Amino acid sequence: MATSMRKLAGCSTCIYFASSRFSTSLPFRKITPNKFKGKQSSRDWVTRQLNDPYVRLANEENYRCRSAFKLTEIDDNLRIIKPGGIVIDCGAAPGSWSQVAAQRIQLKSKHDGTQKEGMVIAVDLRDIEPIDGVTVFANSDFTKSETQSKLLRMLDNRLANTVLSDMAPNASGNREHDHQVISELCLSVLKFSSQVLESGGHVVCKLWDGSEKKKLLSVMNRMFETVKTIKPDASRSDSAEIFLVGLYFKLRKK
Ligand SMILES: C[S@@+](CC[C@H](N)C(=O)[O-])C[C@H]1O[C@@H](n2cnc3c(N)ncnc32)[C@H](O)[C@@H]1O
Repeated sequence: MATSMRKLAGCSTCIYFASSRFSTSLPFRKITPNKFKGKQSSRDWVTRQLNDPYVRLANEENYRCRSAFKLTEIDDNLRIIKPGGIVIDCGAAPGSWSQVAAQRIQLKSKHDGTQKEGMVIAVDLRDIEPIDGVTVFANSDFTKSETQSKLLRMLDNRLANTVLSDMAPNASGNREHDHQVISELCLSVLKFSSQVLESGGHVVCKLWDGSEKKKLLSVMNRMFETVKTIKPDASRSDSAEIFLVGLYFKLRKK
């Protein structure tokens, strides 16, 4: 990888552009990385990034990753992020979902006059560079009980309004195996959510589509008033990625 362009670990679509060598100012012509020397697969990756409108937009709007626009679209449509709310972002690195969540709890809070502080907690296996308005909990495996206990301590008896998971394992290339692993991550998120969500709260879980979807949807249908499966425009059409969204958590006893 060229020294002037850093590909962030943990997500194949996340980059910071730090060089005019990769100028993205020509919207209608396919751009190829002429001066980029590397393996063909790396050249293909760079070419795809340079020609992706969401990568350009992320760069322009200072999001760490194009994934920001997946959450933006989900929230624009379903209003899952509440003014002054508490959001837990699982698998948050490099941090674009947390950036969106932090902006939205603050902006919405100012807009509706509640002026509540809100909180976003970003947890990931990997390191996360600091993000304004976000409590970073890095280098931690979300599925471990010690991580979840620490999250509970961070909540300090408050309930979360929204739990987000864009967690994904490193793809092994075996689609069924990867599907099973990400399904386990989803189950772990749902189990944790049932402990921390307020009544009426929401969950978003990334899944690579496959045989376990039915089981996950059935678990979610028991937990939430409404369950939706969403493929945002920003999600690449050649990816098996979908998002399971649970709206209005209904199990919490008052
Ligand atoms: C697609 S990236 C997330 C991108 C992020 N939503 C953003 O917008 O910047 C998936 C992340 O899930 C994290 N992850 C995978 N398994 C995890 C686990 N068990 N605990 C915590 N994070 C995990 C990976 O380290 C990776 O950073």
